[in-house]
Amino acid sequence: MQEPSEDPTASESGARTGGLSRRGVLALFGGGAAGIAVGAAATSAIIAATGADAAPSAGLSYPFYGPHQAGIATPAQDRMHFAAFDLAADMTRDGLVELLSDWTYAASRLTQGLGMSVSGAFGGDSLMPPDDTGEAEGIAPAGLTLTFGFGRSLFETSEGVDRFGLAAKLPNDFSDMPKLVNDFIDREHSGGDLCIQACANDPQVAVHAIRNLTRLAFGRAQLRWSQLGFGRTSSTSTEQSTPRNLFGQKDGMANLKAEQPELLDEHVWITDGPAWAAGGSYLVARRVNMTIEIWDSLQLGEQERVTGRDKHEGAPLSGGEEFTEPDFTARGEDGAPLIDERSHVARVHPSNNDGIQMLRRGYNFVDGNDAQGRLNAGLFFIAFVNAPERFARVHKNMARDDLFVEYLKTTGTGVFLVPPGVADGQYLGQQLFEA
Ligand code: HEM
Repeated sequence: MQEPSEDPTASESGARTGGLSRRGVLALFGGGAAGIAVGAAATSAIIAATGADAAPSAGLSYPFYGPHQAGIATPAQDRMHFAAFDLAADMTRDGLVELLSDWTYAASRLTQGLGMSVSGAFGGDSLMPPDDTGEAEGIAPAGLTLTFGFGRSLFETSEGVDRFGLAAKLPNDFSDMPKLVNDFIDREHSGGDLCIQACANDPQVAVHAIRNLTRLAFGRAQLRWSQLGFGRTSSTSTEQSTPRNLFGQKDGMANLKAEQPELLDEHVWITDGPAWAAGGSYLVARRVNMTIEIWDSLQLGEQERVTGRDKHEGAPLSGGEEFTEPDFTARGEDGAPLIDERSHVARVHPSNNDGIQMLRRGYNFVDGNDAQGRLNAGLFFIAFVNAPERFARVHKNMARDDLFVEYLKTTGTGVFLVPPGVADGQYLGQQLFEA
């Protein structure tokens, strides 16, 4: 587990990794301002350290560099902004490396509470747009992590085109999600060449990161779709209390945790497959709409039967407490199983899925309402696994007749390979391009 630091200025590591490319600097100036003073990024230093009235967690930071990317085994933060990007049609392999280098530089700074560049939001030339948009000043880093992923289309398009000479590096394990029973997928809000998961304890910090990384990619990659999430729906550390999802259920207690390194090695980090991907993981995103109003009309007992856990404590219906293992063999006086075999917990439990486990890291979302006055709400489900097919097997077992499925509709999907962590002086995914 990464050790958090309470001093955002303790690591100035972002400032050590070279700086932005010329194209990156131009992008920050709006893309059209060719011929402008490129030296602006190297002018007066500003540090977006915590302001006097910042929230208590504003100073919390996690290291950017390490063997694995942060934002996976990091204690799940409260807020998320997830974004997927399509690369420009004229993007080249060198251009892609340059973009990843620029994102690495910026991410190494943002996660430490620093601005996008040394001149940042307030220190540049007053005749130029600033390098940083400024809204995270005084409230960053707030535990910000930025986790970058590669879509399958980066290696090979759906028409089989190898745009960047990467097709030979495509891991055999990199499969897409199959169509499942309750899929109502909006393809415009699915997939993408690249993704960034920004998590922080302050929503503005997460949004600032995606906004500024998008701006940095101007002319090179375009935002394809994005999702805001509030309220984590899982614990990824034993030190965290169990949160609740929008069905009011305690969620995420039976999750893989940072304190279980052997299980993370077995289920989350890529160990089989190409050497360049070792230490990475697969991020599977599923935007699951929940029919909140119908759920709210269900009797408490039915809500619990559908889940397989009691609603208040989150204890399995076979007895015990929140963290007691469910006993699927336990029967009531009438001889019926105490946990319905079609309940969610029964359908997705490792003992009914060849022992498969995953690290769940999803967020609640509410995106307004529909014309009938129903909330457009649900759970932006994110899981990290070492092979998408293993995730799909569990999801399939759930989708076929889990009692829960009646109240859920999957409307968006994405599978991304999260390359291993970055060493100081390297760029994200460097192993892939140099393998
Ligand atoms: C809106 C959608 C969903 C909701 C509201 C939901 C809710 C829950 C709840 C309340 C639990 C019990 C608490 C816990 O064990 O952490 C749980 C467990 C779990 N869910 Fe979901 N879930 C959803 C979708 C999914 C999906 C799409 C999958 C992936 C196939 C999934 C996989 C799991 C797993 C693996 C567990 C842990 C089971 C165990 O080890 O006991 N869930 N979920």
